[in-house]
This record gives sequence, structure tokens and C-alpha cells, in this order.
Amino acid sequence: MAWQTIDRLTPVVDEKAPPVLSEAVREKIRSFFPRYETRRAALLPALHVVQDALGHVSKAAMKEIAEVLEIPPSAVMDTLSFYTHFWDHPKGKKVIVLCRSLSCQVMGADRVLQEVKDQLKVEEHGTTADGQYSLLTEECLAACDHAPCMLINEKMHKRVKADDVAKIIKDVKNADVTMPRSHLFDKPAAAAVELPKTSDVKEMKDA
Ligand code: FES
Repeated sequence: MAWQTIDRLTPVVDEKAPPVLSEAVREKIRSFFPRYETRRAALLPALHVVQDALGHVSKAAMKEIAEVLEIPPSAVMDTLSFYTHFWDHPKGKKVIVLCRSLSCQVMGADRVLQEVKDQLKVEEHGTTADGQYSLLTEECLAACDHAPCMLINEKMHKRVKADDVAKIIKDVKNADVTMPRSHLFDKPAAAAVELPKTSDVKEMKDA
């Protein structure tokens, strides 16, 4: 999403509405605190946690994240609006992200993008009428040697040709990830205990 400005005279959050973050989500965010020197530093993991749980990060969720991290809500919005990965409004069940950087462009990413648009009848930043797919383009997806690349949720599709698109979209398992998710994300507190302290690393280097 793009940078946003807000009208500060009009409330964007209903103060009387019940909280949108469950205690489990708040606890998951708090579990990242031991990894960082400040709570603010846990903002990106917090956004991931909330988007994983709720599908997107609404203005109400931003305000509650700010409370947990003890930072201004504007700081949450600043960070969220910088990354296309985060959504402040509902998105499709699956998000297709096509790379628009050089290697993929050279290898035909434009044709793949057009085919996705034609197949799904959706434009960039749009969501299909049935709510199944949203479409985005982003800069390099870090798999340039497999260009053109396309993500469906967290599943990377490599060397995608325009002719492959219909088959990929029809595949109900097109977003299934076979690799386990990061241990650091799933067990942040435990991982923090296992990580060496900066001072230990220095001593190891000095030895
Ligand atoms: S340029 Fe497309 S993955 Fe890097």
C-alpha cells in the first residue's frame, strides 16, 4: 500500500468497539520482546502476527499494537504503509505477488502479470469478486536466478511462463508451503535464549 495521510479531526477508530486483538495475539507479540532492546523494535513481527491472525491490520488493530508496544499509533501506520506486504483492509484468501524488478522483467514478468489479470479479471491491488485472490506487484522477491517469480501467499513459484498461469491458479495447493516456517518466528522467546549475547560473540572473536 502507498503512504497515507489521515484526517486527524475525524475519529478512525470506534473507541467503544471491543478490542480486535485477542489475548493470545497480544501474548504472541509480547513473546518477541526478549529478542530486542526496545519494544518498538518488535513492530515488524507484531504486524506479521496480527496479519496472520486477522488477515489484515485495521486501524483499530494498529492502535492496539501501539498500546502493546508503547509507541504512538502513527509509528505503526508509518511502518505498515511502507510495506506492500501489509494490508489495512481485507484482502483475498490468497495473495498473488509478482516480481516487477529487472531480472523478472527481462524474463517476461509483464506477460505473466497480464495473464494473471486476464485469468482472474482483477487489477493490481484489487481482489477478485469471490474474495479468493488479491494481486500485487513488488520489487525483487530474492529469487532472481529463477525469474520470473511469483508468490502465492508464502509459496514461491519459479520460472513462471504466461502459459503456466491458468494451471497454477487452478491448483488448490498452489499456496501450500512444504518447508517449515522460521523457528525464530514460531518460537521467538525460546530462540532468544539460544542466541549468543553480543558480548559473548565479541569474547569468542577475541579468544
Ligand atoms: S528480480 Fe525478480 S526475484 Fe529478483
